[in-house]
Amino acid sequence: MKAPARLQALMDEGLIDSVSRQLMSGKEASVYVVRCGDETRCAKVYKAATERSFRQAVDYTENRRVKNSRQARAMAKGTRFGREASEAAWQSAEVDALYRLAAAGVRVPRPYNFFEGVLLMELVADAEGDAAPRLNDCEFSAEDARAHHASLLSEVLRMLGAGVVHGDLSEFNILLAADGPVIIDLPQAVDAAGNNHAQRMLLRDVENLRNFFGRFAPELLKTDYGHEIWDLYQRGLLREDSALSGRFERPQAAVDLGGVLREIDDARAEEAARRLRMQQAS
Ligand SMILES: Nc1ncnc2c1ncn2[C@@H]1O[C@H](COP(=O)(O)OP(=O)(O)O)[C@@H](O)[C@H]1O
Ligand SMILES: [Mg+2]
Repeated sequence: MKAPARLQALMDEGLIDSVSRQLMSGKEASVYVVRCGDETRCAKVYKAATERSFRQAVDYTENRRVKNSRQARAMAKGTRFGREASEAAWQSAEVDALYRLAAAGVRVPRPYNFFEGVLLMELVADAEGDAAPRLNDCEFSAEDARAHHASLLSEVLRMLGAGVVHGDLSEFNILLAADGPVIIDLPQAVDAAGNNHAQRMLLRDVENLRNFFGRFAPELLKTDYGHEIWDLYQRGLLREDSALSGRFERPQAAVDLGGVLREIDDARAEEAARRLRMQQAS
């Protein structure tokens, strides 16, 4: 196909040789299959902020790192320079997250380049080498659903270990590659430790996984891994191989079992003492 204008700059730079086809035009980006030498890659062209949905509102931009305070002030004021800086921060957040997560061993597309608002990355492919389907396009046996759910929870732990909460994890942003699920679409990823919405976002991510795989393995619908994971994370106890139960007792509702048992014992001892006194008295 004829290269769209936004990809022309990458062709001029020699970063891509040709554009094979458009894969998707999603909410926030258009995605193309491109050729680079002998390789097939994927180019994600971000839409301008005005064309995008409101996903990057407050939650996501909070605590986003910017290069300097001039940029931060401009972003807060909403000047043109500020808007461009927010735009760049939003787009490069995905690139940053991809590098961080790949380094942490999370299965994400390998990033190659970020140029003029276009992210060049690995094309996640199925066994035939075609663009991989989204989980939402697939059917699973109960057994496969349980296995994928478990392995994606491990990926969530690994992401948290790298300090990242995806923030939009769902069956629409996970592709089923020949070698298993691959997590994509990260511009809204947040810093787990520095963002007030991180907990809510993590809980929603984990809930989305449960609800999707629960369609194929209904027993998953009873689980509550999100609160358990966040609780361990907050207490600094989360490990990549933490054994999770899928159950969580909220601390405020939790019963101090030891205390209750001690009280029962005390009551028994008192009763025994009372009987003894009565026997001695009679
Ligand atoms: N690296 C990739 N390999 C294969 N397909 C991809 C890749 N990245 C994105 N896609 C396809 O493009 C679609 C939109 O990409 P995504 O990153 O989710 O952007 P959006 O913000 O528009 O949802 C995905 O649902 C997927 O089908
Ligand atoms: Mg998406």
